[in-house]
Amino acid sequence: MHQSKTDKPLKIPQHVAIIMDGNGRWARQKFLPRQFGHKEGVNSLKRIVKHCVHLGIKVLTVYAFSTENWARPEEEVSFLMSLMEKTIHTEIQELDEQGVRIRMIGDRTTLSQQYRQLWERAEERTHSNNILQLNIAFNYGGRNEIVNAARSLIQDVLAGKLTFADITEQQFSNALYTQNLPDPDLIIRTGGEYRMSNFLLWQAAYAEWYFTDVLWPDFGTEEFEKALESYTYRERRFGRVLEK
Ligand code: FPP
Repeated sequence: MHQSKTDKPLKIPQHVAIIMDGNGRWARQKFLPRQFGHKEGVNSLKRIVKHCVHLGIKVLTVYAFSTENWARPEEEVSFLMSLMEKTIHTEIQELDEQGVRIRMIGDRTTLSQQYRQLWERAEERTHSNNILQLNIAFNYGGRNEIVNAARSLIQDVLAGKLTFADITEQQFSNALYTQNLPDPDLIIRTGGEYRMSNFLLWQAAYAEWYFTDVLWPDFGTEEFEKALESYTYRERRFGRVLEK
């Protein structure tokens, strides 16, 4: 049993999502190019994935690359792309052995064949694992996801596969990239900003948020447990009144 500092057992969320912010600033503070921050960010992610497996968290969703990130300088975009590709290639075996199932969430329709294949191969290789589901939000935007879901539902209605009345919140959720996954219980944002940045807009409806000034490359297991400790003390009411 994992204890919090106050001896209350840590409440382990089923699904944790993370906005991994602050890589660039971490590097700048050390007078290094931003790329060093991203590299160190990958190490941070590896630590957190391992810790999720250790704690028994079932789903981890990380914001790796947004639909807006393409507007960064070309050099940074191509660095990030090759860093992710390399990381997948070097880590896939260990992830597979740890029982991690990888899934890319994001818009595949506008991806080049190279990146579509990268994710498809990682997904195929790990599809029967069930210790931790690692969702990598890549070419992801919450508004884009909602618009695409609406489009696919309209298509189904026009094709006679669904009726207007079939379109419920549940049906809508199933049309999102996250499909049948549970909504995130806890969303962590590192790097000191207090905004959603187009991340999991629909799914975050009842999530608990945890913000920290710690920059992503410095976010270790101790910081992660601080977030879980904070979550342990939250009272989740989902809009209802809890009986005392
Ligand atoms: C935000 O920091 C971070 C990113 C845009 C990239 C995050 C990606 C990784 C950590 C790599 C993930 C790898 C895999 C394989 C999924 P920032 O650049 O916005 O930092 P700043 O706010 O300090 O400028």
